[in-house]
Amino acid sequence: MKNLRDLHQMKQASEKISMVTAYDYPSAKQVEAAEIDMILVGDSLGMTVLGYESTVDVTLEDMLHHAKAVRRGAPNTYVVVDMPFGTVGVDMAIDLKNATKLYQQSGANAIKVEGGHLTAFIEQATHIGVPVVAHLGLTPQSVGVMGYRMQGATKAAAEKLIADAQAVERAGAVVLVLEAVPSDLAAHISAQLEIPVIGIGAGNGTDGQVLVYHDMLSYGVDRTAKFVKQYGDFSTGIEALKQYDVEVKSSTFPSEQYTYQKQIMDEVGK
Ligand code: KIV
Repeated sequence: MKNLRDLHQMKQASEKISMVTAYDYPSAKQVEAAEIDMILVGDSLGMTVLGYESTVDVTLEDMLHHAKAVRRGAPNTYVVVDMPFGTVGVDMAIDLKNATKLYQQSGANAIKVEGGHLTAFIEQATHIGVPVVAHLGLTPQSVGVMGYRMQGATKAAAEKLIADAQAVERAGAVVLVLEAVPSDLAAHISAQLEIPVIGIGAGNGTDGQVLVYHDMLSYGVDRTAKFVKQYGDFSTGIEALKQYDVEVKSSTFPSEQYTYQKQIMDEVGK
């Protein structure tokens, strides 16, 4: 398994870091078999596997349930798990209790939190031994406030993002995820910070990239953002399911090949 030191060394050596989301045992197994450097058990699972409108409905128990399955599927990959909406940023004591529970029980290597307002939390969590990945730029848990749009697109917003990135690094964040920001801004932040910066919709100047498994494999998604490249097409599974339906209804499945042939009824008698 790549550890934090390996990831930081990759940045120093200008080696790009790959990260993909996974939410269950089979997807985690695939990601590990593909030798991707990091897995994110993202709260995007709210939309991709639970069918919610946004990440806002996802609970700590949901994250724990899925992260444990991912860990079983990918025992040798650096796994990051999202703290879902409402479980952090409300009350420091409760935030730390939630973070400890998620980190301890999920088997993940780090937790991830969204927003530049959480520097005090990052500091405290780091202090008690919980590694924290910070997520800035477009933060989907705040979609009701900011919408799904590019962030850091004005001088003031770009300066604020730079200041937030520096602040989360100072607070102890081990990695930064930067979502939906202009590529020159993302490249500038990546060059300034010592910690690896993983981009999504942030251009090619970051230290690594993350994509959502279901988006990149076209698995149950109706539309994707501009920054998603589709590397596979799981939607062909629908054709397979249609074929199965036809074969069941025409009694061509199961054929002999898929049938136990022992003639037991001769022994049972009539
Ligand atoms: O939940 C998620 O999948 C994420 C990525 C978009 C970075 O946070």
